[in-house]
Amino acid sequence: MKKTAKAPANIAFIKYWAKADAATRVPKNNSISMNLSDMYSICTVEFDASLKKNEVHFLDEETIKSQELARISDALDKIRNIAGSVLFAKVVTKNNFPKATGIASSASGFAALTLAATKALGLNLTEKELSLLARTFSGTACRSIPDGFVEWQKGTYENDSYALSLHPPEYWDIADVVAVVTSKMKKVSSTDGHALAPTSPFYELRLAGMDAKIANLKKHMRDKNFTSFGRIVEDEALNMHAICITSTPPLLYWQPETIRIMKNIALWRESGELESYFTIDAGSTVHVICRGTDAQKAKSYLEKIEGIEKVVINRPVKGAQLVTEHLF
Ligand code: DP6
Repeated sequence: MKKTAKAPANIAFIKYWAKADAATRVPKNNSISMNLSDMYSICTVEFDASLKKNEVHFLDEETIKSQELARISDALDKIRNIAGSVLFAKVVTKNNFPKATGIASSASGFAALTLAATKALGLNLTEKELSLLARTFSGTACRSIPDGFVEWQKGTYENDSYALSLHPPEYWDIADVVAVVTSKMKKVSSTDGHALAPTSPFYELRLAGMDAKIANLKKHMRDKNFTSFGRIVEDEALNMHAICITSTPPLLYWQPETIRIMKNIALWRESGELESYFTIDAGSTVHVICRGTDAQKAKSYLEKIEGIEKVVINRPVKGAQLVTEHLF
């Protein structure tokens, strides 16, 4: 059976940064995110008795790193074991945005692969089971399974660490206007970054404040209090990057353009022109969070800043879905 799934990237308002267990990707803290309407992966999977090994293709990319191939193959093996199948698979996948620049391509990619591959083997997993499984391939992928605004509950062990929807996409009209400043891949992967986080002298402090920060953010989301919500989102992004900068060895993901955008956001806010807040994942890309009604304005402001390659408006959206149009 051939199946195709589409899954969104997601932006974290509260970041996943450090694992309690590296092998299973159980995180140190809960995280909160929003699925992105206009940054997604599509993945088609077919298990086929004539194949002697897995065949993986990325559309629009000439080279696939051997590490990436190994990660996808491991995921296919795991899904095959769950279904009790011995068949190899053909996988074709594509993203509509550049990889490894601070947009969660592993999140959307592995969420789409999890849904397509399990369905291709006739498995009918629940949302919780899909999220648990996707987490083991890439932590953030578990958050691209449920709809809209999502919380990943860290849990205590492998089988209770998964993501749930907090609010459906139509709950709150906010936008993530993504400013890509370079499509060059970052040098240090986030998987390596997670492992370095506890070397920061500030890491325990970050963790100690986490529960209160999450409770506050969730309250402001419930109240749709955009200003209080935005302040926490920005504070949390700086907090995560403070950990990165003070890890051993240090990780500085920002480019000069990243800082230029951060400074502009503060100016727009101070002048009363545009209320928006930044957040940044493990890369140079800036996610500008604003009210949905301000999204076009934010885009046109960002397009005037020097050094920005691409600006994409994203609204909240559903999680991973099956689609009928296959990639092969
Ligand atoms: C910085 O999910 O890429 O985007 O579990 O090792 O695949 P692995 O890591 P990954 O983590 C990226 C984390 C982040 C912050 C976040 O989205 O919460």
